[in-house]
Amino acid sequence: MIVHDKSKNIFTLHTNATTYQMKVDDYGVLLHTYYGGRIADADLSYLIRSADRGFSPNPGEAGHCRTYSLDTLPQEYSTCGAGDFRLPSLELEASDGSHMADLRYTGYEIRTGKYALEGLPAFHGEGGETLVIFLKDAAARVEVELYYGVFAAYDLITRAARIVNQGEETVGLCRAASLCLDLPRGDLDFVTFDGRHVMERCPTRAALRPGVQSVGSVRGTSSHQHNPFVMLCDPSAGEDQGLCYGAMLLYSGNFEAAAERGQFEDTRLVMGINPYHFHFRLAPEESFTTPEAAMVCSLNGFGQMSRLLHRAIRERLLRDNRPGRKPVLVNSWEATYFDFDAEKLLRLARAAAPLGIELFVLDDGWFGTRSDDKGGLGDWWVNREKLPGGLGGLADQINGLGMQFGLWIEPEMVSEDSRLYHEHPDWALSVPGRSYTRGRSQLVLDFSRKEVRDHIYDALREVLSQANITYLKWDMNRSLTDVWSAALPAERQGEAYHRYVLGVYELLERFHRDYPHILIEGCSGGGGRFDGGMLYYTPQIWCSDNTDAVDRLRIQYGTSFCYPPCTMGAHVSAVPNETNRRVTPLETRGVVAMSGVFGYEMDLSRATKEERKVIAGQVERYKACWDLVAEGDYYRLSDPFADSPYTAWAHVSPDKRRALVSLVTGSTRAALPFFALRLKGLDPALRYRVNGGESYPGDALMQAGYPLPVLQGDYQSLQLYLEAE
Ligand code: DGJ
Repeated sequence: MIVHDKSKNIFTLHTNATTYQMKVDDYGVLLHTYYGGRIADADLSYLIRSADRGFSPNPGEAGHCRTYSLDTLPQEYSTCGAGDFRLPSLELEASDGSHMADLRYTGYEIRTGKYALEGLPAFHGEGGETLVIFLKDAAARVEVELYYGVFAAYDLITRAARIVNQGEETVGLCRAASLCLDLPRGDLDFVTFDGRHVMERCPTRAALRPGVQSVGSVRGTSSHQHNPFVMLCDPSAGEDQGLCYGAMLLYSGNFEAAAERGQFEDTRLVMGINPYHFHFRLAPEESFTTPEAAMVCSLNGFGQMSRLLHRAIRERLLRDNRPGRKPVLVNSWEATYFDFDAEKLLRLARAAAPLGIELFVLDDGWFGTRSDDKGGLGDWWVNREKLPGGLGGLADQINGLGMQFGLWIEPEMVSEDSRLYHEHPDWALSVPGRSYTRGRSQLVLDFSRKEVRDHIYDALREVLSQANITYLKWDMNRSLTDVWSAALPAERQGEAYHRYVLGVYELLERFHRDYPHILIEGCSGGGGRFDGGMLYYTPQIWCSDNTDAVDRLRIQYGTSFCYPPCTMGAHVSAVPNETNRRVTPLETRGVVAMSGVFGYEMDLSRATKEERKVIAGQVERYKACWDLVAEGDYYRLSDPFADSPYTAWAHVSPDKRRALVSLVTGSTRAALPFFALRLKGLDPALRYRVNGGESYPGDALMQAGYPLPVLQGDYQSLQLYLEAE
């Protein structure tokens, strides 16, 4: 609900459990007054105190009043150069060379329905409302429209800003954040999700210290190293208690998430496009729209925050038109790498089909002259030496086995050893006069250019016309360097990074529109572009190139703080694991992969009879309870980064009548302690039958726990299926 108190110029956004408030002050500055648990309509600006603070400047119109300063007031969209020295949201470069921004309120609109952002991913659909607040920098003649989307049922508030040049001179945009949140306390913890290739999104929690702490990416993608999702929370907040704020940016390129603990024990969080090499020129009447950010506030810890985000992402961000269960797949990558021919692939498919596997995905190596990772990218036609019957022939045979057929592509890339590169060397990002940088021996196509995207689209369209393809894995295997676009003049090169991302979105949107029956999985060397922006186009993302079940416990745990299990591609692979050589039981690998979008990535034609039996059982089990993983509420029952003998989690049906509880032990050879696993999210008044055997009261399972059997050996696992009687 959006309430505007006209007499006091207060805007209050209510969700089911939270309230967010802003107020226009006497000078037209939009102040942030409150974000937290829901309270009735009230003017919360009494919380704002002012005092004469040394070295905090006072705006001209305040006369000689020394108690009014932008440096000390909580701002809704912070500025720079006019008295606020904290993190800016907006920085303009005027034609006279000044770098400033000074915004004053000019009006508002309340609109039914949730706003959309042209060319950018955004939460959508029913149940949303929109508030637009208009601010203006009168001297620069720049208008800023602040967009707020309110989804009461998910306690979700979205934000974006549109910056419009209303003057007669070109204005430079050096910074344009998506979100600015000023909180009146400094004693908060900042939680970020960090890592590297094959170890993504590990939570890092630290108390804010005075000054700015930030994470971000200048790699052109959201990156393996830091995720565009962060949290601020009470120092005492935990999984089930305490105030916490989650903030995500729906963007797949360079980003920055910065938190500043200010001199007066205040905190400012700013999230948006990273200012590195960002400079957008706005000619008269031109505008710039920031990516969308979204915030959730939970009064009951991280678990509730995650469940709210999961539901919002599932129901209002993903655009997956296929009802029901996603097919269980087998992917050829770890089974064959580049070394395959049609017969080898069919052997794999023939081994998979009787196990209940429903989709065969042909990974890298099927096109051009690609026989290793040094060549072929960009030449999107089938390699007839490997596949003499073409893609159509192979797909028909796979279909004949009762399986769907899916294909790997990497549209944004080009190899120097390719026909595409020889014909269009200028389509690759590179700076004239400099030698360029390779990543995985490949170059990046300049996706800011429409003719480049059109070419790739036409080539892939031709591929899709040749075979019955229902799934695409859209990969992206290097970071951007040498970012300079031959299509932009020198003064617009600061737009290239962002225009690249817009280009990727535009092409993805075309596929989404023209091939609604094709499920697209995102991937960037695993989880290097796992963000809300990509999820709008690719409703699932390959979570990590690390398929080791034990490392995956950590990766999937960290990922789950923001993103729902139904978005995480997770496969059972062979042992010793390709990444870390660890050996884990097949059953455990299944339990871990079943907690995401389930599949296999190993040479099933070499599986023993015993292994085939285990695999068939896993597939059957997944099919029986997939809805819990895909649509249930997710509960983290332990922290795999803590010193605990086990990691456990649960998926509970929304009506609380069914649950799937999973547990994996560590590598201890000592006698394991006896312990009871305390469950969460059940109905205390119901009795639950566990694995078709004994039944227990819900309150007892949550308060006292379920007595676990002694699990001997390394990395053992257990799954409990609970059904209310
Ligand atoms: C990186 C991906 O993450 C892998 O799963 C695989 O598709 C390779 N690329 C193929 O080159």
